[in-house]
Order: sequence, then structure tokens, then C-alpha cells
Amino acid sequence: MAEKLAIAVIGAGTMAGRHMRTLKQSLNSRLVAVMDVDAQRAKAVGEEHGVKAYNDLDSVLGDPDVEAVVIYVPHCFHAEISIAAATAGKHVLVATPMALTLADCDRMIKASDAAGKVLMVGQDLRHVPMHRKAKSLIAEGAIGRVDHLMSRRYSYWDPTVSGHPWYLDPKMVGNCVLFALGSLEYDILHWYMDSPVKQIYSKGTESTEIYRGQEDSYSSMMTHDNGAVSVLCQTVVCKGGPNDQHIVGSEGYIVVSEGQVRVNGENVVVEGSEDSKLNQAGEFATCCLEGKEPDASGRSSRHTIAIIEAAMRSAERNEPVLLSEFDLVP
Ligand SMILES: NC(=O)c1ccc[n+]([C@@H]2O[C@H](COP(=O)([O-])OP(=O)(O)OC[C@H]3O[C@@H](n4cnc5c(N)ncnc54)[C@H](O)[C@@H]3O)[C@@H](O)[C@H]2O)c1
Repeated sequence: MAEKLAIAVIGAGTMAGRHMRTLKQSLNSRLVAVMDVDAQRAKAVGEEHGVKAYNDLDSVLGDPDVEAVVIYVPHCFHAEISIAAATAGKHVLVATPMALTLADCDRMIKASDAAGKVLMVGQDLRHVPMHRKAKSLIAEGAIGRVDHLMSRRYSYWDPTVSGHPWYLDPKMVGNCVLFALGSLEYDILHWYMDSPVKQIYSKGTESTEIYRGQEDSYSSMMTHDNGAVSVLCQTVVCKGGPNDQHIVGSEGYIVVSEGQVRVNGENVVVEGSEDSKLNQAGEFATCCLEGKEPDASGRSSRHTIAIIEAAMRSAERNEPVLLSEFDLVP
């Protein structure tokens, strides 16, 4: 049997559950432990999966059977747990958003570099076949030089109904629409073109009572290094809205929507497993076992947090912000 990476999942909530179910199908990783500060939850999930259950971080990080951790806890804990895990000699896959500040991202990168361990971020959309297809079409020049991208993520998420109240606490979540959705949606725009954002102008609005004190919708207009302009409109308070990307180039256009990719109005074949978590788990294990750098490495993903930080500064000042103002790539 091929070697399988031994994984402990930290956090035993909704998304962790999804990841653990996925690991059952993984060819190159296996679940060996789960840890949650809620001891009862950890025990129940450990029993469900037949693995060790911990309720404190030091114990799971001190377990010599654990080679890597996958972190699914509220945003505010991502940085400290990732740093502790790397320092304990574990590879890290941390859910999006990587962290709540760029400074924390840099501390995470430093810790994993010092330990010589992999740091990967769960940029799920990078593992979705339709987005991978759009990226490869752009790289092949299928629509010539890309000048304009428009992305919409109109969704509805009421954490009070789903039993996730921490998404309403700015200290834990940052800002829900920016950090929970934006960490994925801003990410694919620079990733599609391999072109970082240079400047951003953003505005947030508060449309409902659900997220009182946090903007629940955000619009941003960005200029990339390659000269392209991208626009992202996203919200967590719109029932039944669209989620799609429209990419305009010098020789045509691409539409990415509902699992399909159209080039100049024609559907193209999209291959690959729709299970983005399985794709992601596979890449993470390969990188840990073979000493490779993942696509969504800490270095690559920190730029997405830089964009979010710039979006907030721009909204606060009501003016465009250059990322070079504060994003001094280490
Ligand atoms: N990539 C995606 O598509 C996606 C989607 C949803 C959520 N997420 C991310 O996954 C993470 C988890 O979200 P969720 O919706 O599953 O949350 P959740 O509330 O369902 O679960 C969080 C779990 O973490 C535990 N926890 C809290 N603090 C902890 C700590 N310090 N140490 C260990 N355990 C701790 C809680 O007891 C809970 O069981 C978040 O960071 C979120 O942004 C990613």
C-alpha cells in the first residue's frame, strides 16, 4: 500500500466534518486524530471516525503519530494554531481565510519555513474543475489578453439559523463577507491570471439587521499588475442570487457558472473530480510526502489577505488604495 500522510483535524465542527468524510476516500492521507476545545464534540467525532480524540492543543501536537494538521476553527485562531503546529514539526493545511491580518500571515510563513514544513491554505475554489479550466484557458491565450473580469457572489448565510454565532462577532470573523467569502472570491481573480492586485477601491454596505455592525455586502474594483481590471460584488444577505465570473479578453470572453465554462458562447469540456476537498487533500498529502510547494501555499495565499486588508482601508477612507502602501512582501 502506498504511504499515507497521518492527519489530525483541529476543530470538529461543520467543515471539519466534511473534510473528515472526504479523507475516507483519500488515496494518500488518513485521519488519525481529532481535536476540539469542546471535549464532548471531540469525543463524539473521534468515536464516529474511530480515531483518537483530544481537547487540548499541546496534546494533539505532541502526538508522534500525527504528521500533519488540518485546521477548521474560527478565523481568529488560525494564525496561533498554525504557528504552534509548525513549531511542533507538523505540516499545516489551514482553512480560509489564512488569517485576519497580513502580519499574522507572515508569522505563519516564517514558522513553517523555520520548521521546514508545508503550509497550505484551503483555497477551495482553486480545486474546483470549472475554475481550473478557466485558469488554463487564460494561460493558453484562448481569449487573448485579459482586460476585464467581473465576479458575482450573491449568497445568503444567516449564522443565527445555522448555529454558528461566531460569524457575527467581528473579533472572531473579521468581517463575514470579506473574510469568509472574500478569502475565496478575491483569491481566484489574481490566481486566474497569475497577476497580483496593485490597487483597489472598495465600498461596503449594511442591508439587513443580521450582521449589525458588519457590512454584509462589499463591492471592489481592482487593477492588477498586468493592467487588467477586475470587479467583485459579494454579499451574504441575498437569497437566490448569481455566483459567476465573466472574463473579457482581446479575442473573446469566458463565462464560468454552475459547473460550466463557456468560451465565446460555446460550452467547453470541463474534466476532473467535483470534490474540491478531495482534490485539495490529495495535493496537500503529495506536497507533504514529496517535499513540494502547494499551489495555495502560504506565500501565494497571503496576497488574498493583503487584498482584503486594502479593501477595508479603501472603504474606510473612501478612496483607492495601493497595496504597495503596506504590503511589503517579506
Ligand atoms: N473554504 C470554505 O469553503 C469554507 C467554508 C466554510 C467555512 N470555512 C472555514 O472553516 C473554519 C471552520 O468553520 P465551520 O463553519 O466549520 O465552524 P464551526 O463553528 O462549525 O466549527 C468550529 C469548531 O471549532 C471549535 N473550536 C473553536 N475554537 C477552537 C480552538 N481554539 N481549538 C480547537 N477547536 C476550536 C469549535 O468548538 C467548533 O467545533 C472557519 O475558519 C471557516 O472560515 C471554509
